[in-house]
Amino acid sequence: MLKKAKAGHYAVGQFNINNLEWTKAILQTAQDLNSPVILGVSEGAGKYMTGYKTVVGMVNGMLEEMNITVPVALHLDHGSYEGCLKCVEAGFSSIMFDGSHYPIDENVEKTKELVKIAHDNNMSIEAEVGSIGGEEDGVIGKGECADPEECKMVADLGIDFLAAGIGNIHGKYPDNWEGLSFETLDSIQQKTGDMPLVLHGGTGIPEDMIKKAIDLGVAKINVNTECQLSFAAATREYIEAGKDQEGKGFDPRKLLKPGTEAIMATVKEKMELFGSVGKA
Ligand code: 13P
Repeated sequence: MLKKAKAGHYAVGQFNINNLEWTKAILQTAQDLNSPVILGVSEGAGKYMTGYKTVVGMVNGMLEEMNITVPVALHLDHGSYEGCLKCVEAGFSSIMFDGSHYPIDENVEKTKELVKIAHDNNMSIEAEVGSIGGEEDGVIGKGECADPEECKMVADLGIDFLAAGIGNIHGKYPDNWEGLSFETLDSIQQKTGDMPLVLHGGTGIPEDMIKKAIDLGVAKINVNTECQLSFAAATREYIEAGKDQEGKGFDPRKLLKPGTEAIMATVKEKMELFGSVGKA
């Protein structure tokens, strides 16, 4: 999926899921737009949904019942070593091992072990060098720029795609954010060649920066907070308009509908920006 994206100069969106509405909204949008898609599951979201086996059951059920024919990957986001093993067992199609907080030798050692395990199970694996700033589900990063030499070292371990810190941050960007370091991205791409690169912290990055990042070898872009903000705003509007108190407006299928539709609109906007529409 990502080799094709890199060769075709577009990026596939990873949209993080939290529950049934999220998953349904993302899958339906991908199918409507004929776009490949990656469903991201953080360890926190996995726990929230009662465990990885529930997630696999829900996603596989939806793929069948919703007649989804576009390529879909189910991917662990920022996994620990143990989390990766659990997702292999549960039947995910892809894992991310985030060893960026370990000294580089330890990151390399653990990534190497997980590459073998993932590939023995026909799964793909993402690794990370240089932590992504901000906080996501308890995973806190300082927002550093990765060392291109270390990126090359990890890319050579046989991983399928590489997340490298280039000044990106999870969550909303602060007003004084300096922007992505294209210089770092360019030297990472030069050292790692065909390796698809991953841009985390997709929420709030200006369009021109997204396009430039794709030009410089980014083939996967992660979006999480932006769907949460869209969902929350639409749900707030529904409640504030008193619609939950009209007729059967309290029915969860009605109450959660505006939020679900808002997620669909955000995912559509991102797929159009990333260039993945029609690329299934
Ligand atoms: P945002 O929440 O900033 O969109 O980041 C998502 C992400 O990188 C998931 O790994």
